[in-house]
Amino acid sequence: MSEHAPLALLTAKGISKRFGGVQALSDVSFTINHGEIYGLIGPNGAGKTTLMRMIMHSIKLDRGKVTFFADRSSEGVVISARPAYAIARLGVVKTNQVIQDFEKLTIWDSLLFAVAEKRDERSFRMFGERRLWAEHEAEIQGYLDLLPFDNPFGFAKSAGEKKLLDIIRCLLLRPKLLLLDEPTAGLPADMRDRVMELIKKKATEENVSVLIVEHDLNVIWNLSDYVHFMAEGSVILQGNPAWIREHETVVEKYLGKGHVGR
Ligand SMILES: Nc1ncnc2c1ncn2[C@@H]1O[C@H](COP(=O)(O)OP(=O)(O)OP(=O)(O)O)[C@@H](O)[C@H]1O
Ligand SMILES: [Mg+2]
Repeated sequence: MSEHAPLALLTAKGISKRFGGVQALSDVSFTINHGEIYGLIGPNGAGKTTLMRMIMHSIKLDRGKVTFFADRSSEGVVISARPAYAIARLGVVKTNQVIQDFEKLTIWDSLLFAVAEKRDERSFRMFGERRLWAEHEAEIQGYLDLLPFDNPFGFAKSAGEKKLLDIIRCLLLRPKLLLLDEPTAGLPADMRDRVMELIKKKATEENVSVLIVEHDLNVIWNLSDYVHFMAEGSVILQGNPAWIREHETVVEKYLGKGHVGR
């Protein structure tokens, strides 16, 4: 059994990525434990989104290794050697900082697609057999009650609605590890609070692990069990939120200087 197996859900060791002249990540290592929430903060361009994309393997690593321990007794799966679609199947799911095109599907239909994806059903079959998706109605409706839309049978219109739709879609995939890239950016305060509550509940009640990037630091301080501080492609500090918040390096490189929040 691996030395990390009892607690770790994911380990990243020495990951590096260069884009042309930019060293986006240099030798980054960290561990994500079961059921804990990790805030990832740092100035614009620090490498936060790149780090998440490396975990999802939606871009190739130059160096390093990411291992996922889906089952606590397992030796782990080296996900940095697997294609991106296989990683989602293992239970690693990511929301998007920049919202994708939801214009071709209604809110309700795109949520049904997520359920179909999870069940590995062909979506036409799913839509064709009402019985198959009726059992998922309650789950979808539960999310829609909590995070209401103007018209769930219409299209997501505002940036905020697209953001919420992306979050619900990811939750319907029943992730073991949820990667959230600025999930509350552009949401009204009441919706932001509901999203935070929902994420907290997923972690505490369903043991989902969460890695969250946010420039709204109230979200980070309220939600995180641990915070990782990144700058210039490195994770410089890892610790509890109270410690990170007061740390002079964080104040100097991020909090004290007018970073561009969105
Ligand atoms: N596909 C790409 N091609 C070229 N350079 C890239 C690419 N993706 C990211 N970069 C560069 O890598 C660095 C890290 O970018 P990244 O998007 O990971 O930062 P971030 O911490 O998510 O920033 P933000 O807070 O603005 O979202 C930046 O200098 C960025 O310009
Ligand atoms: Mg980013």
